[in-house]
Amino acid sequence: MTETSPATTVHDHSPEIQVERAAGVGPPGPGDVTANEEVLVLDFGGQYSQLIARRIRECGVFAELLPSTTPVAEIEARRPRGLVLSGGPASVYEPGAPRFPTELVDLGIPVLGICYGMQAMVAALGGRVEAAEAGEFGRTDLALLGDGGTLLAGLPASQHCWMSHRDTVFEPPEGFTALASSPGSPVAACESPERGLYGIQFHPEVVHTPYGTEILTRFLRDVAGCREQWSPASVITEQVEAIRAQVGEGRVICGLSGGVDSSVAAMLVHRAVGERLTCVFVDHGLMRLNEAEQVVEAFSQFGIPLVHVEAEERFLARLAGVDDPETKRMIIGEEFIRVFEEEAERLDDVGYLVQGTLYSDVIESGGGTGTDTIKSHHNVGGLPEEFDFSLVEPLRMLFKDEVRAVGAELGLPDRMVWRQPFPGPGLAIRIVGGEVNRERLDILRSADAILQEEVRAAGLYRELWQSFCVLPVVRSVGVQGDGRTYAYPIVIRAVTSDDAMTADWARLPYDLIERVSSRIINEIAEVNRVALDVSSKPPATIEWE
Ligand code: XMP
Repeated sequence: MTETSPATTVHDHSPEIQVERAAGVGPPGPGDVTANEEVLVLDFGGQYSQLIARRIRECGVFAELLPSTTPVAEIEARRPRGLVLSGGPASVYEPGAPRFPTELVDLGIPVLGICYGMQAMVAALGGRVEAAEAGEFGRTDLALLGDGGTLLAGLPASQHCWMSHRDTVFEPPEGFTALASSPGSPVAACESPERGLYGIQFHPEVVHTPYGTEILTRFLRDVAGCREQWSPASVITEQVEAIRAQVGEGRVICGLSGGVDSSVAAMLVHRAVGERLTCVFVDHGLMRLNEAEQVVEAFSQFGIPLVHVEAEERFLARLAGVDDPETKRMIIGEEFIRVFEEEAERLDDVGYLVQGTLYSDVIESGGGTGTDTIKSHHNVGGLPEEFDFSLVEPLRMLFKDEVRAVGAELGLPDRMVWRQPFPGPGLAIRIVGGEVNRERLDILRSADAILQEEVRAAGLYRELWQSFCVLPVVRSVGVQGDGRTYAYPIVIRAVTSDDAMTADWARLPYDLIERVSSRIINEIAEVNRVALDVSSKPPATIEWE
C-alpha cells in the first residue's frame, strides 16, 4: 500500500521519481523495487480476457484478472508492475459502456490497452474514436509508421495481426505517437512512453498475431520492468507457505476424485502440512479400469495418508432399477456425501477442507476474492453445504494447464497429470437408457480401456479433450462365427475442446477407429456393434446424459 498518494501527475521515469519509488513511497512503476511482481488485467468483457492473463503468465509474469470497475484505490494498493486493459464488446460512446478511469494515469503504472481497452483509454484522454466504415475481423495486415516507437521498434515494417473491432482510433490523444496502421485502422497502435501509456488495436494474445508474444514481452519486460520469474514451480513455494499460514496446527481433509485437480491440490497441501492432511477417496465403483488402484498407488508412494473407501456395493445397491439420468446423478451425489461425512466423522478435529477450485471457476463465479461458503464442486460429487470447514483452495489462481505443470513438478505420475476430465458420477452417466449394474459397468469399462489404450498408442490422448465409450442399453442383431448374436452397441465419443463449453467431434484416423472397433467386438462378448458419435457441442453435449 502506498503511504502517500501521488498528489501530482508526474508520470515520467525521472531520477527523482525513481528515488521516491525505491523508497516505496511514490507511485508504483517500472523502477519500483517494492512493486509486486504482477500485472493486473482489467477485464472490459472481451472473449480473450482470460487468454491475456494466461499469455502474460507464459511470459513468466503473474497476471490476475480484475473487473474493469475495480476501484482505482484498490489497484493502487496492489502495487502491480503493469496494467493491461482487455478488449470488450461495447462501443466507447454507448451509454453505460465501461470506461477507462483517467485517475489510473495518475498512478504512474504502465498501461497497455488492447482493442476496446485502447479505445477506452484514447477516448478518455481526448483522442478520436469512431465507428469505421467497415470493421476488421480476423487476420489483418499491419504496417508500422516510422520506427514503431518503444513498443514495435525493430519488428517487420509489414506483418499480420488478428483484429476484431468495428470502432477504431482515428486520432491518438495529445502527446501520443501513432505507431502502426491497418487498412481499417488509421491508428492501430499508439504510445506515450513518457507517461507509460500504450495501446494496440489488435490482439497480441491470440496465436494468429505472430509477433504478439514479442509485443507483450516488450511491454512486460522493457516498459513495466517485470522480472519474469513466475512459473508453476514458483507457485509451489508460495502456496506451501500460504497453506501453512492459513492452517497453522489444524487438521485438513481432502476428497479425492481421481482427477488431476483434487490430486494436485492434495499434494500441495501435503507438502505444507504433512500428515495432518488426510485424503478420502470414495471409490463408488463407477471409475475407469484400474483408476482407483492408480490413485491409491500414487498417494501411498508419496506417503500421503489416504482413506480408500470401497463403496461400490453401496452405490450399486442404490442405483438398482434406476433408469432416469437425473435420478442416477442425484443418488450418486447423495451417497457420496453420506460416505464422505461418515469418514470425516471418524477423524478428529478436522477444521479444513481442501477443494480443487480453479481460476476459471473463480472467474466464472464472479471473480470474488475468497469464497467462504462451500460451493458444490462437481469433481467431488457435491459436498454438503452445512459442513463446518474452512476451505483451503491452493489452485484458485491457476488455469488448468498450470495445474498440470504444478502436478508434474510435484512428481505426480504422467498418467494422472494428463488424465482427461472425467465426470464425478463416472461411468454411470455413460450407461444410457437403462439401469446401471455391475455387468454393464464391466462391459463399458473394458470397452473404454481398449479405446484409451489405442488412443494413447496413436499418440492422440493429450490432443483430445475427452475420449470415452458410451453404452446405450439397447440390443441389436449381429452374426459372429456361425451364430446370430443379440448384443449391445458401444458408441465412441471423442471431442476436441478448450473449456468444455463448446466442443467438436474429433476426426480420429480411420485405422484407429477400425482397430478400436474390431478389438471391442472381438474382446467383449456382449458387444456386436461399434458406432462413432459425430456430433459437436452445441447442439449435442459431450456426455450422453
Ligand atoms: P457436457 O456433457 O455438459 O459436459 O457437455 C461438459 C463437461 O462436464 C463434464 N461433466 C460432468 N462433470 N459431474 C462432473 O464432475 C457431472 O455430473 C458432469 N456431467 C458432465 C463432462 O465430462 C465434460 O467434460
